[in-house]
Amino acid sequence: MSDLELNQQLQAALESFKDPETGRSLAKTGQVTDWSLADGHAKCTLRLTSMIAPIASEVASQLQAHLHSRVEGLKSIEIQLDRFERAPQSLGQIGLKAKAVIAVAAGKGGVGKSTLAASIALTLEKLGSKVGLMDADVYGPSIPHLLGLEGRPEIVDSKIQPIRSGTMPVMSMGFLVERDQAVVWRGPMLHGSITQFLRDTAWGDLDYLIIDMPPGTGDVALTLSQLLPVTGAVIVCTPQEVALLDAGKAITMFEKTKIPILGIVENMSGFTDPETGKTFDIFGRGGARSKAEQIAAPFLGEVPIQMALRSESDRGELASVLKDPRIAKPFEDVSRALVRAITARVEANPMAAVSLPVL
Ligand SMILES: Nc1ncnc2c1ncn2[C@@H]1O[C@H](COP(=O)(O)OP(=O)(O)OP(=O)(O)O)[C@@H](O)[C@H]1O
Ligand SMILES: [Mg+2]
Repeated sequence: MSDLELNQQLQAALESFKDPETGRSLAKTGQVTDWSLADGHAKCTLRLTSMIAPIASEVASQLQAHLHSRVEGLKSIEIQLDRFERAPQSLGQIGLKAKAVIAVAAGKGGVGKSTLAASIALTLEKLGSKVGLMDADVYGPSIPHLLGLEGRPEIVDSKIQPIRSGTMPVMSMGFLVERDQAVVWRGPMLHGSITQFLRDTAWGDLDYLIIDMPPGTGDVALTLSQLLPVTGAVIVCTPQEVALLDAGKAITMFEKTKIPILGIVENMSGFTDPETGKTFDIFGRGGARSKAEQIAAPFLGEVPIQMALRSESDRGELASVLKDPRIAKPFEDVSRALVRAITARVEANPMAAVSLPVL
């Protein structure tokens, strides 16, 4: 086959490969560039946005396999990765600019929602995405404590300036009230503060806004669903039967507010003794996986009990303990699974409205 024919076949094969962010054909989005062909050997550049950065290399491998399987006579294909810019749109009436808004929730207190929300946010940022973290637990904000953040947000040009963990913007009621001060909230105040956090904070352009939900999330979930299109919820549960029953309640609650379930994470799933390497399934194991199967939601992975995670978060050092590769690994797996779950939903329902560059 001539290189000209090969080129035609490659372009045709590109038609049926979808950009994971928009669900649009890669042949139409201008994200595959710099083709070169010689004697059946091809090279090109695949350009993906920072939203897709956490799974960029697997998307490149999928594209490679896709082209190989469809184009006979293609001897090899080398795909370079590069960045593609596509700004997020404003969401709802509130002007927040984010590509995905994710609520991290559970039916039960103390299962690790805040730990997971903060760790997923930090991990997605580490993997190349633009991320913000919002603590929606206005009664008992714990994000500032976990991340060792303090200070009062300033107002600049009538926007609340978030406090940053490294470069990541974070907003929490914990920055606005004195520590240990009891906050007595009435429903409308709760609604008002969540609205302010979303609308009046200088978040910048985000790929992901991760929201740490309070326990028993009814009110906040309802408020969120009224303010903006929430991409979905991540349900955290521990392996005990009772936690799974409570996860069921959270799922029902999100269904009522029409917020999709993006997946379930099993936290405190087994404990590995650092001395002997032996694993103990203290609370049991695998319940979340079967719950996910039962409701046909993705299972996003397991996070084991890790002593350093608890002790360091209590000292405000969650961000530094996540630099330990052994601690970080399960969160990377969960974060990538979450990005896959989001892109799978997009693929099922491509974004018609996204503005695309003209080729
Ligand atoms: N995988 C884990 N390994 C060890 N400790 C953990 C793990 N996940 C969470 N913890 C610890 O469990 C406690 C509760 O976690 P966290 O505050 O994240 O739960 P929560 O669901 O947000 O609680 P609340 O319902 O009070 O908001 C914390 O001390 C935290 O450090
Ligand atoms: Mg919490």
